[in-house]
Amino acid sequence: MKTSLEDTLLSAIRTIPDYPKPGILFRDITTLLGNARAFRRAVDELVHPYAGTKIDKIAGIEARGFILGGAIAHQLSAGFIPIRKKGKLPHETVRVAYSLEYGVDEMEMHKDAVTEGEKVILVDDLIATGGTAEGATRLLRQMGADIVAACFVIDLPDLGGRRKLEAMGVEVRTLIG
Ligand code: PRP
Ligand code: ADE
Repeated sequence: MKTSLEDTLLSAIRTIPDYPKPGILFRDITTLLGNARAFRRAVDELVHPYAGTKIDKIAGIEARGFILGGAIAHQLSAGFIPIRKKGKLPHETVRVAYSLEYGVDEMEMHKDAVTEGEKVILVDDLIATGGTAEGATRLLRQMGADIVAACFVIDLPDLGGRRKLEAMGVEVRTLIG
């Protein structure tokens, strides 16, 4: 029998209690990345709606969004924009502060990573509170990107991230949650 996408992905992800802080149930996708079938299915499924459409760039959020975003960029013949934690990018950047389920931080992208009107898909492994994706959306829009969608493997719906992004006018696509 063919295993459903959700079953394949769910069984490939492990949950680590109390990481990185007490009370957090951390969804660890390293096991999914190490499972060739699950990794391919996740990438294929995220790419599917955009195959044959013109996407200029994929913006991946450090760190796990880099892995998924790189694979998706390759499949869509798009460029890749790294959105990084502060202090990691060598050229001129725009920066934003954000909060997430277990902390606060700042992220940056290069000012010349995107040009006005370019069609961009934002990619990360997981959306929880949506604080991280909201920050990335602000950076991309500040530099004129047209955000076609934000894509995640996992949604933690109780934390409200999807609603937060949708309220900003971003189409959200998730595979499980
Ligand atoms: C995780 C995850 C998302 C973010 C989601 O990254 O990969 O980027 O948290 O949380 P939010 O929706 O509440 O903002 P993390 O900050 O742990 O960084 P890492 O990938 O570098 O470990
Ligand atoms: N980012 C925010 N919350 C998370 C969680 N519960 N597991 C993995 N990454 C996360």
